[in-house]
Amino acid sequence: MKRVDDFRLHFGKQELVPIVIGGMGVDISTADLALEAARLGGIGHISDAMVKTVADRRFNTKFVKDKLKQYKYNVANSDKSVVQFDLGQLAEATSLHVGRTMEAKRGPGMVFVNCMEKLTMNAPKETLRVRLASALDAGADGITLAAGLHLGSFALIEDHPRFRDAKLGIIVSSLRALQLFLRKSARTNRMPDYVVVEGPLAGGHLGFGMDWAKYDLATIVAEIHAWLLAEKLDIPLIPAGGIFTGSDAVSFLEKGAGAVQVATRFTVTRECGLPEDVQQHYFKASEEEIVVNQISPTGYPMRMLSSSPAIGSGIRPNCEAYGYLLDSNGNCSYIDAYNRQLELHPGVKKVSVMEKTCMCTHMRNFDLWTCGHYTYRLKDTSRKGADGNYEILSAEHVFRDYQFSTDNKLALPD
Ligand SMILES: Cc1cc2nc3c(=O)[nH]c(=O)nc-3n(C[C@H](O)[C@H](O)[C@H](O)COP(=O)(O)O)c2cc1C
Repeated sequence: MKRVDDFRLHFGKQELVPIVIGGMGVDISTADLALEAARLGGIGHISDAMVKTVADRRFNTKFVKDKLKQYKYNVANSDKSVVQFDLGQLAEATSLHVGRTMEAKRGPGMVFVNCMEKLTMNAPKETLRVRLASALDAGADGITLAAGLHLGSFALIEDHPRFRDAKLGIIVSSLRALQLFLRKSARTNRMPDYVVVEGPLAGGHLGFGMDWAKYDLATIVAEIHAWLLAEKLDIPLIPAGGIFTGSDAVSFLEKGAGAVQVATRFTVTRECGLPEDVQQHYFKASEEEIVVNQISPTGYPMRMLSSSPAIGSGIRPNCEAYGYLLDSNGNCSYIDAYNRQLELHPGVKKVSVMEKTCMCTHMRNFDLWTCGHYTYRLKDTSRKGADGNYEILSAEHVFRDYQFSTDNKLALPD
């Protein structure tokens, strides 16, 4: 019976344990978590989502305070088009977050940066170029292009000195999305080094509509695999979404996957950024509590615990401090939803907004509990104490369980 450890992911001469811990924004996949994956010979991700906030938390910088100060005059205005990111500060924050993480890296693995296109930041192209280039400048081993089709992303950095040496990959949920990306990127004469195929059971935003349940990861992976073979393209495929045990992973590796990307099992580790009380909600979740809804202003369906404080919360939009989801005209669908409720309920101090959520504020505060479909199985991965709480795991324990387990077994902590 095979184990994940019987396989290796090959990048040129480099061999890695074929386990990738997926990016989990806003600092849920922390530097500590990514560094553990690298130390153990796999690949970890940090995310550049809300990087100024993350830098402030990690390095005591004042990026968010300074931005709020600059735009404070606009807080009561529903037109947010004036609220812009200072590109120099964006580069500085990215450089700090990525650079310090890379300096701390030990061991044979790699650390990549998860970069979501849907963070449009009121100037999609300019901010994305700075984010990508600064991550490369700061020495990231690679960048995973996420949450979006990224049709122009390679072109944005094709002149960067590291464009051909850093590992660059893309997340897709269909063959069509991959074909589109390859066609649009062909001019740069560079293939992605890996393709993450994310199925409908993943955490975070889904690359499917509300009919996500009709789709199946194994079928999508097989279809993309067959097409790559027919095109004689040798690009490692990395399935993601619902791979809960080492045996789940082996079944993909045996069919030719280069590695697997996993995330949900690491949400209940010490190295993960979620506060411990939130982690207990993840442990205790029932299947019915895991929902896919459309409250994300990105327009993509998102999976989360139905008990997330973000659902229904009607807080004032916080774009002057954050503003990561403002489109190129300075709009965000939460602002519209919020204003509609204010109009419907004049004089009410605290409105409830069910339609959309203020993603920036709630992700920043760990109040939007996004999670994978199998979160309800996390309780099988740890021990319950007398107080009803579960033991928080170490990332090493979960990583090694994926790497060495057989027979669909889940190793409990010692
Ligand atoms: C809490 C959480 C947050 C996530 N955030 C992101 C994100 O910011 N960007 C992204 O590309 N994927 C995100 N994902 C998706 C994961 O990177 C990963 O591909 C997927 O969840 C793997 O499936 P699994 O959780 O069933 O193992 C997130 C997943 C979780 C569980």
